[in-house]
This record gives sequence, structure tokens and C-alpha cells, in this order.
Amino acid sequence: MSFIRYDINDSVAVITIDNPPVNALSPAVWEGIEEAVARANADASAEAIVLIGAGSTFIAGADIKVFDILKTREDSLSRSARTHALLKRVEDSHKPLVAAIHGNALGGGLEVAQACHFRVATGDARVGQPEVLLGIIPGAGGTQRLPRLCGVGMALEMSLQGKPVAAPRALAAGIVDHIVAGDLLTGAIAFARSKANARAIRKTRDITLGPDQIKVGLEACAAARASLAKTAKGQMAPDAAVNAIEAGLQRPFDEGSTRERELFADCVVSTESKALRHLFFAEREAAKVPDVPKDTRAKDITRAAIVGAGTMGGGIAMTYANAGIPVLLKEVDDAALQRGLATIRRNYDVTMSKGKMTAAQVEQTLALITPTTSYDEFDQVDIVVEAVFENMDLKRTTFGELGAVTRPDCVLASNSSTLDIDELGRASGRPAQVLGHHFFSPANVMRLLEIVRGRSTNTDVIATSLQLAKRLGKVGVVVGNCFGFVANRMLAYYMREAYLLLEEGASVDQIDRVLTEFGLPVGPFGMQDIAGIDVGARIRQYLKSIGKNRAEGPQSDIPDRLFDMGRYGQKTAAGWYKYEAPGSRTRTPDPLIEQLAGEAAARRGITRRSIADDEIVARITTALANEGARVLDEGYATRAGDIDVIYVYGFGFPRHRGGPMFYADTVGLDVVLSRVKEYRSRFGEYWEPAPLLERLAAEGRGFYSEAAVHQM
Ligand code: CAA
Repeated sequence: MSFIRYDINDSVAVITIDNPPVNALSPAVWEGIEEAVARANADASAEAIVLIGAGSTFIAGADIKVFDILKTREDSLSRSARTHALLKRVEDSHKPLVAAIHGNALGGGLEVAQACHFRVATGDARVGQPEVLLGIIPGAGGTQRLPRLCGVGMALEMSLQGKPVAAPRALAAGIVDHIVAGDLLTGAIAFARSKANARAIRKTRDITLGPDQIKVGLEACAAARASLAKTAKGQMAPDAAVNAIEAGLQRPFDEGSTRERELFADCVVSTESKALRHLFFAEREAAKVPDVPKDTRAKDITRAAIVGAGTMGGGIAMTYANAGIPVLLKEVDDAALQRGLATIRRNYDVTMSKGKMTAAQVEQTLALITPTTSYDEFDQVDIVVEAVFENMDLKRTTFGELGAVTRPDCVLASNSSTLDIDELGRASGRPAQVLGHHFFSPANVMRLLEIVRGRSTNTDVIATSLQLAKRLGKVGVVVGNCFGFVANRMLAYYMREAYLLLEEGASVDQIDRVLTEFGLPVGPFGMQDIAGIDVGARIRQYLKSIGKNRAEGPQSDIPDRLFDMGRYGQKTAAGWYKYEAPGSRTRTPDPLIEQLAGEAAARRGITRRSIADDEIVARITTALANEGARVLDEGYATRAGDIDVIYVYGFGFPRHRGGPMFYADTVGLDVVLSRVKEYRSRFGEYWEPAPLLERLAAEGRGFYSEAAVHQM
């Protein structure tokens, strides 16, 4: 019972769950709760019971690590049966049982609260069923009890989106019964006493839905299923959540619970769930850098400056302003500044039109961005993010100037996507303060922040960056300073294969379709039309000038030909696709691309052929895994998980596949290696197996475990 405390306070038994940091429900905590409720029921000095969390939260859910123990469906079924029975015994308490919620009541945490007779919460508490984000469904009765409390519509919304709901909305919906204004425990004890005086006990499982509610509920389930067929193709958990909720409408509580257990068991042993659980921990691991101890002093960022108000600079300024950090936004002249500010305003107008911000919030946020054309006041900022044009001479000059105009302790970050951070460090005169902050376009939306450490970057500058990333709502991943860093270095191999597949006979349309069916939000060609074909072309021009290529292997000339034709993508209404007007997003295949591909194939002496969808997925994912193995072996990424997090948050690699490295493990590294060798014999020496891939495959291991994930 060491995770559970038991006290009597004003004739109320107070059960405190104390399992830091988030009071996760390990098996001992589940059992401890039941024992404490039984003790309170037998305790003559207790009239009612309050269940509360120690520390900053109620219960953040089942302990996610425990799911790894469930190797088979049967393991899961028997464990869930025990949990369901335990919660029914808790619910059968003959003294009023009140959950007192602060911080978060998530997943199993909310399900414990649902099994209590009443729920009170602080005004800023949040409740949610985020299981779907882990590839599972609420498995401790949530699909059966939650609809009884708040109706099927909201239960579906919470279980399918996984987003937490704020206490006031939970109160209006009937999930929470009372909001406590002052001290939570005091309020909860008073509430519990009032229920004891009224002899009020309400078991959630005894609430019955009327025929109309059931009819509307079944319709909502059908509608949700139809919508998931489009939005969650190839994913198991969202559909399973609908099925479990539907079963609860069609059957009595116990039978609905049995169905929930079966559906939960199907999900928990799925690769989808393993992939999503892997990402949950990989994302948190990424914030831990071996030579940057937890207690490294991070600097508090109170004021920032951005140099360059183009697409990236403007998006970065918005990111800071959205986090409440005042920011100077510098451009070379007023015209460029006004252009940048107009784009920022347009972006906020869109946010407002979607109802995500009010006019007052927009004005308040915009007021945090101070436009300037000089370096005045740069001596007052804690960080500068340089976002000028991707040109080494220009960036070197900028860092020279920044070194002179900022305080010695100011962090100097470059948003370069490829250039050498050490060279910028030297140009600034204080390389210890210099590093890369590589944002992804659109910077105010994409969650990834690649934190690029140079040879001399101080560890406190890295700690500051990691803390800042969290504050900006980003997922920060620290990487080494190689060409393209990790994200763009791997992207180059992804794009190489896309271009070559096109030349060999696949169409732009086919490749994009296959990859979106695989789970990417947009295929490589659609993505380039959004990002701008000119951006990549300018980087290639720079590389040519220093005699480098982005990726080993044949270099397709089609992107450069499109650039020469002024086809930059959506912004010019033509790129890999045709668009009705500049800015339009509806892609129409253009026969010109087939013609260019035919010419490129002829030049390379290849006969175009029909290419199967499977080959497209295999070529592209193999290229990513092979280059990822190289990045890892060379030490530019700390761990395979960092690469997965980078690719998921930077380029939308499907989360339910766990990222390119995890996906390779599910395919099996022996298979991945044999593909690399096959491609080498078919296409050329540039398909060289990464040494780490060869080593791991020879040892029968994966990037992650002794036994490859596909054997689990
Ligand atoms: N199980 C195990 N560990 C957990 C955990 C959980 N449910 N929730 C959080 N943690 C750990 C994190 O891994 C992290 O550990 P480290 O410090 O070692 O890295 C630590 O707790 C703190 O977490 P965060 O860094 O995420 O802290 P935060 O303050 O940013 O966020 C949070 C807190 C909102 C609770 C967030 O951690 C979160 O969303 N947790 C997961 C919630 C969840 O998905 N619950 C459902 C679980 S599944 C379930 O309950 C199934 C069921 O039906 C029975």
C-alpha cells in the first residue's frame, strides 16, 4: 500500500494516490485503491470517501509501460477482466465515493473516477480518454460508463480525438458534478459529507439511456465510422472505440464490458499500438541528452529577436508570440517588413476565421511582435533566431553582426536547414552560444524543432533550447551538425527515390497516392509543391557550387527543369501538378511531367515500366531506414527514437507506424538489408548497405530490441 495513503478527515476517509510523477495506475496502485475503499467501508469513523491524487495531478492513466507485459490477447483479456471486476467492487462501495480531480484525469484515471459515485474538480482540471493516441481504446470500462455520464456524442468525440476536456465543459456535460472554487480537498470532503447526509449513492453503470438516446447514439456511431473510413484509414483503434461504445448501446453493462475487453485486447497487441506507445516514450526520451544533465542551468527566455521576416521568419515570430514571448522582427527595409507583417496578419485572420482565436487574442498576440529595420534593442534580447535567405555568405555576415550587437550571454540560433553551424559560430566570434534551431514549414504549425549542436555549443545553451522548445509547444530533438542535419539529410534519400521511381515509370500521382495510403498527410510531390520547388533548387545550386550532392546516386534533373520553367508549385499555380490559380490547393496531374520523365529515362537509358505500389513503399522506406542507420552510426542522432520523432513531427511519417526506424524493425532488418542488396544489384552501387544495418541484421536484432519487433 506504499502508493496509497489513508486518513480520516472530518469523518471522511481520504484515499491519496501517491505514485509520482503522474500517479499512473501500476498494478499495485489498482490494488491499493480497492483495498483502501474496502477499508473505508469497514471503518466506522468514515461516513464517506474521497479519492484524490498527490502532487500536481489526479491520475494520468494506466502505466503505459505495463502494456508491454501483455504479450498475447489472452494476457490482456485476463488482466482486463480483473480490472473490470475490481472497478465494479469499488463502485459497489456502500459509502458515497467521490473522486477529487486536479491536474489531469486521463485514460484509466478518468475511468477510476467514473467508477466513483461523484466527481468534483478544480476549475483548471482536465479530463480525457486519450487511449486512441496510444492505439488502444478505453479499457477499464470507459466505453461503457462515459456514454452513460455525458451521452454518446461526447463520448465518441473524447474517445476518437483523445483531446482532454476542460473542467467547465466536463461539468456542463455531466462528467463532473461540481467545481470546487477553493481548496480541492476541503471542497471534496464537504461535498462527500453532503452526499453521506443525503444517503446519496449513484453508480454510473446503473444509469440507463432512453430509447431516443440509444437511437441517436447508434446514428452517431454510424456517422463516426463513416468519417473514420476517410480520416483513419488503416488504423484499428478508432474503429474499435466506436464498436465498443456501440456495443454498450445494444447490450447490458456487463456484456458491453466484455466486448470492450475483447476490442481492447485486439488493439493492445497490435503493431499500431506498439508503434504509438514507442513514440510516446521516444518523444520524452528525446528531451534527455546524455551529456546535458537534468540540472544543467537553462536560461529563461523573456525577449527574443528574429532576423528575416520571410515565410520562415514570420512563422517563427508567430510561434514566439503565441507562447507569449515578446519578439523583435527585423528585415532589411520597410517594404520587406510590411510584406512579412501582412503575411502574419493573414495567417492570424485564417486562425480567427476557424474560431481558434478571437479578434482580441489576435491583437494581443500581434502586439508582442515589434517590427524593426535596425539592430537597436538587440542588446536586450535573450535569443536571436536568424532566418535569412539560405546562403552561406549572407548568414556569415549576419552572424558577424549578431556577435557584435547582442549581449555575450545571448543565444544565437540559425534556422538554416542545411548549412554548417560551426562556420556560423566562428563568424559570430562566440561559437559557444551558437546552434541551429531548425523549424519546419509552416513554422507556427509544425511541431518539430531540430536543435543542432555545433562542435563548441555550450551545454547550457542546449538545455535552454530544450526548455524553450517545450514552451513554444514544439518537440525539441538535439542532433549533430552534418549536412542537412538529420531531417533533411534523410529527406534527400526519400526524395531521391521518389524522383527515380518517377523516371523509371511510376507517375507523380501514383507515388503521392501510395504514400498517402501508407499514412503520410501528403506525398513527396504534393509536399514539394507546397514548400516551393524553388527552395530545393536554390539549395542544389549552392551545393553544386561547392561540389556536393544532397544524396548519393543519380541526380534527377526534372526538379531543376521545373524550376527553370518558373513552375515553383502552388504559389505559381504549376509545379509537379497544375493548379487553377496561384495558391489553389486542388492538384491536377499534368502530362508535361510524364513527358519530362520520359526524356529523363531516355537520357539515362532506362525503359519505363509499370511499377507496383508495394515497390514504391519498399524503396522509399528502405532508403529512409538505410540512411537513418548511417546517421545513427555516425552519431548525428543520439538514438533511433530521435530519428523516429524527427520524421513523424517534421514530415508527417504516420504515427501508427512508429517512424521510419521502428517501421524498419516491424518489417525486419534482415528483410530491409536484403532489399538494399537487391536494389544495389538492380540499380547500382549507390545502394550501399549502412554498416549498422548489416551488423544488426547479422545479429538478428532490430534498431530497438534484441528481438526484432516483428518477432514479438
Ligand atoms: N504511464 C507511464 N508513464 C507516464 C504516463 C503513463 N500513463 N504518463 C506520463 N508518464 C511519464 C512520462 O513518461 C514522463 O516520464 P519521464 O519524466 O521519465 O520522461 C513523466 O511521466 C512526465 O510526463 P510528461 O513529460 O509527459 O509531463 P507533462 O507534464 O508534459 O504531461 C501528461 C503530463 C499530460 C499526464 C502526459 O504525460 C500524458 O499525456 N500522459 C499520458 C496520458 C495517457 O495517455 N493516459 C492513458 C494511458 S492508457 C490507459 O489508461 C488505458 C486504460 O484505459 C486502462
